[in-house]
Amino acid sequence: MTFTLREDSALLKPTTVGALSLANRMFMAPLTRSRADADGTPSSLAPQYYAQRASAGLIISEATAVCEQANGAYMNTPGLYTDRQQDKWAEVAAAVHRAGGRMFVQLWHVGRMAHPDISGFEAVGPSPIAADLQTHTPTGKKPLPVPRALTVGEIEEIVGQFRSAARRAVDAGMDGVEIHSANGYLLHEFLSDVVNQRTDGYGGSPRNRARFVAEVIEAVVDEVGPDRVSLRISPGNTAGDMTEIDQISAYEALLCRIAPLGIAYLHVVSMPSAPAFAAVRTQWDGTLVLNTPRSAETDFAELEQLAEWGVVGAVAIGRAFLANPDLVRRLTIGAELNIPDVVTFYAPGPNGYTDYPMLDDLVTTQSA
Ligand SMILES: Cc1cc2nc3c(=O)[nH]c(=O)nc-3n(C[C@H](O)[C@H](O)[C@H](O)COP(=O)(O)O)c2cc1C
Repeated sequence: MTFTLREDSALLKPTTVGALSLANRMFMAPLTRSRADADGTPSSLAPQYYAQRASAGLIISEATAVCEQANGAYMNTPGLYTDRQQDKWAEVAAAVHRAGGRMFVQLWHVGRMAHPDISGFEAVGPSPIAADLQTHTPTGKKPLPVPRALTVGEIEEIVGQFRSAARRAVDAGMDGVEIHSANGYLLHEFLSDVVNQRTDGYGGSPRNRARFVAEVIEAVVDEVGPDRVSLRISPGNTAGDMTEIDQISAYEALLCRIAPLGIAYLHVVSMPSAPAFAAVRTQWDGTLVLNTPRSAETDFAELEQLAEWGVVGAVAIGRAFLANPDLVRRLTIGAELNIPDVVTFYAPGPNGYTDYPMLDDLVTTQSA
């Protein structure tokens, strides 16, 4: 497949998020790659993997746990709650910066998507409602358990863990953090009017359901400043067996509460035609980054058009960046795109991670 961006393409224009100047508006979407060490330290290949993709306007890292209990959806996912993890993330940040790139770390707690065989802890969520899914554990595929409802004290503790992980990210030299409140993980679960059945201050009304996410954003902004903070949401996304009958009200309450903070960007996973996207777009005055979750190939023409019209400030692209480290260059000159290899998305080692060819490799091979 090939696609050539227009010479004056809005996607190729520089932009800013927070205080950061970015070379273009094509961001690398967060992509879990399951190659971290058993203790949650990013793999020794991670600096190379991310540096290869430094020509993205902004790299958003794979989802990264804010504490040990926040793990457990997939095996070998990284964290940012120990010095060893922080040191490796510092190597990643340095490698990306040396290559001219910019990078935010995506911070998550997996909530009810955890399996105790992976995390070593019981799964937790807003309410004791299980996701009707199976996950790969060290001893094969198993159904996700019914989670235990978090206490208010535990919610406050998790807010503090997001704050500490954001501090560590910035201390590691990262340009900022993206708070993961999408795709059926803990913060998204609290926003849902189906998965969240609480009757305390964190459930019930849209304002209450938005409260946990808002408190996380407020704490993290207080810790590292608004320019270094962003938020990913996916209203109506059914990933993680999520259901939201009302896909709008809690998001409106959330955006209304955090708007005055002036965070760097809001990242929305949505089809541009979805009513929830229209509602969010109308309400959000700041920079909006869109990721369109397609099952097949990215429609670059549509993304280019949305940026041209000013509907989005930037776009996030996942699998095409995974398979094409030099995606921006390929799209600029209309070069053939590598096809993502699904089998190696979550497999260990360099295969399908750091060995996707760059255009220069191909020229060298062909002329040799
Ligand atoms: C291998 C893989 C890993 C992913 N990991 C994450 C993740 O860690 N955090 C997240 O918010 N989304 C994650 N996603 C979703 C992507 O960010 C993105 O929304 C999805 O791939 C659709 O965009 P695309 O069509 O450009 O790939 C992942 C998707 C894939 C394919």
